[in-house]
Amino acid sequence: MTGPTSGRDRGTDAAPAPDADPKADPDADARRLAARSLAADDPTGWFEHLYAESATGEAIVPWDSRTPHVLLVEWAAGRGPGGPGGGRALVVGAGLGDDAEYVAGLGYDTVAFDVSESAVRLARERFPGSAVDYRAADLFDPPAGWRHAFDLVVEIMTVQALPEELHARATAGVAAFVRPGGTLLVIASGREEGGPAGAPPWPLTAAEIAAFATGGLTAETIEDLRDDGRHRWRATFHRPL
Ligand SMILES: C[S@@+](CC[C@H](N)C(=O)[O-])C[C@H]1O[C@@H](n2cnc3c(N)ncnc32)[C@H](O)[C@@H]1O
Repeated sequence: MTGPTSGRDRGTDAAPAPDADPKADPDADARRLAARSLAADDPTGWFEHLYAESATGEAIVPWDSRTPHVLLVEWAAGRGPGGPGGGRALVVGAGLGDDAEYVAGLGYDTVAFDVSESAVRLARERFPGSAVDYRAADLFDPPAGWRHAFDLVVEIMTVQALPEELHARATAGVAAFVRPGGTLLVIASGREEGGPAGAPPWPLTAAEIAAFATGGLTAETIEDLRDDGRHRWRATFHRPL
């Protein structure tokens, strides 16, 4: 198991952010702020604190690799010449925007959202003039117009960043964004049923990854990827026309 937020699970290409202190524990700030929020029964509040503190150099965002996720890049490359592309995409829990920028580069008209206003501001600042529409929004209360509205939905490590008791609701929320004929791509850390969770994150069990096939979605591929002591899932789901 990697650190509490599984930042290193973003892949072997995940270099530390250029301004990160190489001696610092990259998970320490997330651990500190998450513990405070969770004790106050506010499971998502710590993300805003973490991003806001990172903007002033007081905290490290452990998943800030400054690259798109390697499993996203591989997936897109595997879809053939030119990759996927076309239509509207939604990137869930988009953080600092690297995955959203990559998805937009594939040719999608891309919306990317995060519950943290600071994350959204930082993403916009990092990518001035970006084609991505960065929005502050909550997965648990999304704009009504996003229901069944996207050809591609990309969910990377958001559900697992929430306590286990919220996984089913979060999963259903993600699935609901996919339009008929559309695809959901999920990349997450994995764990065995009953296995320990770092808390955060709460990596997904086989049953939890399969549970994205909900609300009319069907599972296409579920890859159980194990390397260098990591356990990750990459899975795709489809909403039939
Ligand atoms: C572990 S981070 C992963 C960020 C990004 N997907 C990545 O892979 O680098 C989880 C992200 O989900 C966001 N998030 C958590 N709960 C959310 C919610 N209810 N709605 C929208 N975003 C949320 C957090 O602010 C954070 O940016």
